[in-house]
Amino acid sequence: MKIELSPLTEQHFFDNFDCGENTVNNFLKNESLWEKAENLTNIYIFHKDFEVVAYSALYSCHFRYRNSTLNKEFRYPGICIGQLGVDKRYKGKGLGKLLIQHAISISHSIRNNIGCRIIYVEALKNAKKYWISNNFEEIEPKKKTQFKMVFDININ
Ligand SMILES: CC(C)(COP(=O)(O)OP(=O)(O)OC[C@H]1O[C@@H](n2cnc3c(N)ncnc32)[C@H](O)[C@@H]1OP(=O)(O)O)[C@@H](O)C(=O)NCCC(=O)NCCS
Repeated sequence: MKIELSPLTEQHFFDNFDCGENTVNNFLKNESLWEKAENLTNIYIFHKDFEVVAYSALYSCHFRYRNSTLNKEFRYPGICIGQLGVDKRYKGKGLGKLLIQHAISISHSIRNNIGCRIIYVEALKNAKKYWISNNFEEIEPKKKTQFKMVFDININ
């Protein structure tokens, strides 16, 4: 059975999902279906025979950011990757990168209809280098354990 990308539905299961980060595991297990039903977040998964092996949680967002070239603050609309997790058994196979690319491709598909400039993530400290390797740039430290990272669709 091959690994497939699809939106999360109640047919999928994730009891054994473990990406190594409790907050990311718990969101999938306890909040994802409710958030999706409430249209707060959409969840995209890679699944193998309906078992979730990787997922992302996306919602629309904006943040204010000073454009250093124009020396002016703007509101930048975009897509927030609220969660990203790959089960330990499937790490290093490019699934995380594919989920990031999927979010970027969604931004390209909506930007003809609605403003969309950035992909935004509040990165965990342990994952900061991962986002940098995927062309995200740190904007400003939020907490010692969390970092605001942005991928600018106009530049990348
Ligand atoms: C971070 C995570 C999503 C990466 O998923 P993945 O599918 O294994 O990653 P990819 O296959 O896309 O990329 C693999 C590459 O990223 C590197 N990488 C993976 N996790 C990394 C991390 N935390 N920091 C730095 N580099 C990392 C690997 O070493 C590998 O490098 P290589 O291509 O030079 O060999 C996954 O490890 C995970 O679920 N981590 C726990 C949850 C988490 O931290 N999520 C991000 C929250 S902000």
